[in-house]
Amino acid sequence: MQNALFDLTGRTALVTGAGRGIGLAIARGLARQGADLALVARTRSQLETARDEIEAETGRKVQVFPFDLADVEGVPSLFEEVLGVVGNVDILVNCAGTTVREPTEEASLESYRRVMDVNLTEVLLLCQAFCRHRQQVGKPGRIINIGSLACHAARPTITAYACSKMGVLGLTRTLAVEWAKYGITVNAIGPGYIATDLTAPLQADAEFSRWVLSKTPLNRWGRPEDLVGAAILLASQAGQFITGQIFYVDGGWTALV
Ligand SMILES: NC(=O)c1ccc[n+]([C@@H]2O[C@H](COP(=O)([O-])OP(=O)(O)OC[C@H]3O[C@@H](n4cnc5c(N)ncnc54)[C@H](OP(=O)(O)O)[C@@H]3O)[C@@H](O)[C@H]2O)c1
Repeated sequence: MQNALFDLTGRTALVTGAGRGIGLAIARGLARQGADLALVARTRSQLETARDEIEAETGRKVQVFPFDLADVEGVPSLFEEVLGVVGNVDILVNCAGTTVREPTEEASLESYRRVMDVNLTEVLLLCQAFCRHRQQVGKPGRIINIGSLACHAARPTITAYACSKMGVLGLTRTLAVEWAKYGITVNAIGPGYIATDLTAPLQADAEFSRWVLSKTPLNRWGRPEDLVGAAILLASQAGQFITGQIFYVDGGWTALV
């Protein structure tokens, strides 16, 4: 029998960035706890594969919504489209993200804007649409934003990414205190170095990978599945008094001096 504290039966979660990597692992983990899913990313084929696998394994309903979240003006309509299909969204997981690694003195305004749009502006817009929806249905809700070690510390060449993820932390804390009155909790998860497509160039760099291990007391790269437990906690009854927090899942990275 499902532990009631972590049971998500009857809930629907909208997960962005759910085609692969961390978003896919979190989506699958929420479905295993009983949640139905609405999955967003650009690549339809990855979303459809995710849907087919998750439905076959869990028996939950999974709908897919291919969409480029860089189209920030289109985000409110995307949320309406999702609602039109799934009827109700109880949990919003903002996981879609991108980065550019370049010396800041050479960085273009275009790449800065793109990273800010995909990592931060669309997150704000989805949170707004979600909040209005939860007010309309008069029910509480859960928002989980995926932050980063960049919410905590700096590395060179990722200025836009750092600004966007620091922004995600500011957004998380602001919405937590502003929307508590609606029963909406807002938290962030800060992954350490996780082996995904996003970090493929870093994993391939032996020197960088050694540095990651030297900074990670648990002495390995993280796996997308490592983030699932924190997401279930923040989405479920177990997390009902947690809001405005960032939860680092980083193998001890932020604890090491
Ligand atoms: N991996 C790490 O070490 C790490 C560490 C800290 C934080 N994070 C954060 O975790 C999140 C997920 O990262 P990941 O490592 O799982 O990356 P990933 O494997 O590259 O997956 C990123 C997901 O986001 C989607 N996405 C990217 N741009 C999008 C856009 N413009 N519109 C819609 N969907 C978009 C991708 O699908 P499409 O390409 O098909 O759109 C994909 O499903 C990001 O926010 C990232 O910043 C990752």
